[in-house]
Amino acid sequence: MMTLHATRRGWLIPVVVLTVGWMPAHPAVAQGVSFSKQVAPLLATKCGGCHISGRRGGFQFTSYDALMKSGMVQKGQGNSSRIVEVVESGDMPRGGGKVSKDDLAMLTSWIDAGAAFDGTNSAAPFEGVPAANAGMGPAPKEKKAEPLTNGDVSFAFDVAPILLDNCVRCHGAQDGQENLRLATLQGILRGGDSGPAIVEGKAGDSLLVKKLLGKGIDGQRMPRGKPPLADKDIATISKWIDQGAKLDLLSWTSHLDDVAAAGRARSLSDAELKPVRAKAGEVLWRMAIPDDEALVESRERVHVIGNLPASRLKETADLAADAEAAVCKELAGADGRLRKGGLVLYVFRKSYDYSALWQQTLGGERPKGIAGHGGMMGDTVYGAVLLPSTPPDDTDVKLLLAEQLAAGSLAGRGLPGWFVKGAARAVAMRAVPKAKLVKEWKRETPEAVRTIGSTADFFSVHADPAPLTLAASGFVAALATPSAKLRQVLALVDGGQDFDTAFATVFRNKPQPLFDAWAQKEAKKK
Ligand code: HEC
Ligand code: HEC
Repeated sequence: MMTLHATRRGWLIPVVVLTVGWMPAHPAVAQGVSFSKQVAPLLATKCGGCHISGRRGGFQFTSYDALMKSGMVQKGQGNSSRIVEVVESGDMPRGGGKVSKDDLAMLTSWIDAGAAFDGTNSAAPFEGVPAANAGMGPAPKEKKAEPLTNGDVSFAFDVAPILLDNCVRCHGAQDGQENLRLATLQGILRGGDSGPAIVEGKAGDSLLVKKLLGKGIDGQRMPRGKPPLADKDIATISKWIDQGAKLDLLSWTSHLDDVAAAGRARSLSDAELKPVRAKAGEVLWRMAIPDDEALVESRERVHVIGNLPASRLKETADLAADAEAAVCKELAGADGRLRKGGLVLYVFRKSYDYSALWQQTLGGERPKGIAGHGGMMGDTVYGAVLLPSTPPDDTDVKLLLAEQLAAGSLAGRGLPGWFVKGAARAVAMRAVPKAKLVKEWKRETPEAVRTIGSTADFFSVHADPAPLTLAASGFVAALATPSAKLRQVLALVDGGQDFDTAFATVFRNKPQPLFDAWAQKEAKKK
C-alpha cells in the first residue's frame, strides 16, 4: 500500500516508518504542495464535472489511484505530463472555466515533486465534485416565455421546427453528439463540449451559426453528413439570436416537439391546424399500436381513430360528433370552438390496445378500472375511450365520449389534474343528462369521498383514480352550475393567469376550504 517516492531531482521525500497497527498519512512533499488540500480541490472544481462525475473524451479519474493509472500524470515530470499540457495550451478546461497561472504552477510542481498522495485513502472518491455536465461553464440563466413584438422571429413557430427536422436526431435530449442537446432551449443555451452554442444578441459569435455556415470552425459543417441548411433557415436562426434568443411559448425545459406544436396551435388557422392534428393523431396510434391498423372516421370537429368494425366505428363517430357539440355548448370559448383545429378521439374495444396507448401517452401501467382519459401530445389533442364490452345504450356511450373529449380539450392549458378530471366529467354529465350512468355516478359519489379520506390526497391526485374522478366531478359540479363559471376560469387561464389566481377570482376562495366544506357534507350522504 505504501510506496516510497523518489523524485527525479535526487532528494528523498522523508518517509514515516511503518509501525504495526498504525497507518500514517504520507507527509506533504518538500515544496509543500499538498494533494488533498490543494491539488484535489483544484481538479474537482475545474475538471470534475467532465472528468470525475463525467467521462468526457474517454478520460475519467474518480480517485488519486485512478488519476495515476490514467497515464496523464508522469511522476516527476510536470511539464511533460498531459494533464499540464492541455491546461497550458488553453484546451482545458473546456466550457469557459479557467485555471490561474498560480494554480497551474502549483499542479506542475506537485507532479515535479513526485505527485505524492498525502491523504488517508488513495482510492477514495474526490470530494466537492460538481455534477456531470456542470463543468460546462456557468449554468445559463432561466428564460421565461415572453410575448413577441412585431417583427420578432418566433422560437416556437420559426426556429424549433428547423432544429427538430435537422438536428435533434443527433443532438437529442439524452445523448447529444459532443454533449450538445438541442431538444430544449435550456440545452441550446447550455451548449456542448465547446461551451455555449449561442451568444444571445450576437449570431456572428455563436458557435451554432458558425457550424451552420461552416466558417471558422473545428470539425464539420452542420448538419453533419447532410446538405447545408437553406440560406433562409440560417437567416431565421441568426435573426432569432440577434433579437436576444427569446422564448415565446411554454418553458425552456419543454421539449421542442411541444414548443413547436404550441407555435403551430397559435399561428395556424383552425382550417390549417385540422389536418396537422389529424395526421399527428394517426402517427401517435401507429407508435402505440404498431401491429393493428386503425380505421379513421372524420367528422367536422372530431377525427375518430380506432380498431372497431367499420360500421361500429361509423356509429361511434356520429355519437362523438354529437357529444362534441354538446360539450362545446358548455365549455367553448369566445371563438365558439372546443379546441382550435379540433380533437382526435381514440376508441378501443380491446383493453390491451388501450393500455398500449396509455403507455405511449402517459407512461407506465394503466390503473385498474380506468377506461378513458384525455390529453395532449405534440400536435395531438385527444380523448381516448375503452368502450364497454357489453354494449350499453348509445346515450351512455355518448356520455363516455363527451367526458374524454372535454378532458382532451382541457389538457395542456396549465390546469391541475383534479380540475381537469372533475370539470370533464361534470360537463359531460350536463351535456348528456339522460344517460343512465349519470345517476349511477351521483349515487357512488359519497362513498368515493369517504374512500379518499384526506383533502391533501385529493389535491395532490394521490388518491385512487376512480373515486378521485367521482369526487372531483361532484365538487366541480357543486361549484360551477351553470358552466359559465368554468368558462370564466378557462378564459382567465388562457389569458395568462395562473390557475390559483383565476380560481380565486371566480370563486372568491381557494379550492381547499371549498372542497373541505363540500366533502364533509357529501360524505355524510348515504
Ligand atoms: C466542459 C467539460 C470539460 C472540462 C471542464 C474539462 N475537460 Fe478535459 N476534456 C473534455 C473533452 C470533451 C475532452 C476530449 C477532448 C477532445 O477529444 O478534443 C477532454 C479531454 C481531456 C484530456 C485528454 C486529452 C488528450 O488529448 O489526451 C485531458 C488530459 C483533460 N481533458 C484534462 C482536463 C483537465 C486537467 C481539466 C481541468 C483543469 C479538464 N480537462 C476540464 C472536456 C472537459
Ligand atoms: C448526423 C448527426 C448530426 C446531425 C444531424 C447534426 N449534428 Fe451537430 N454534431 C455532430 C457531431 C458528430 C459533432 C461533433 C463533431 C464536429 O463538431 O464536427 C457535432 C457538433 C456540433 C456542434 C459543436 C458542439 C460542440 O460543443 O463542440 C454544434 C454547435 C452542432 N453540432 C450543431 C448542429 C446543428 C445546429 C445541427 C442541425 C442543423 C446539427 N448539429 C446536426 C453530429 C450531428
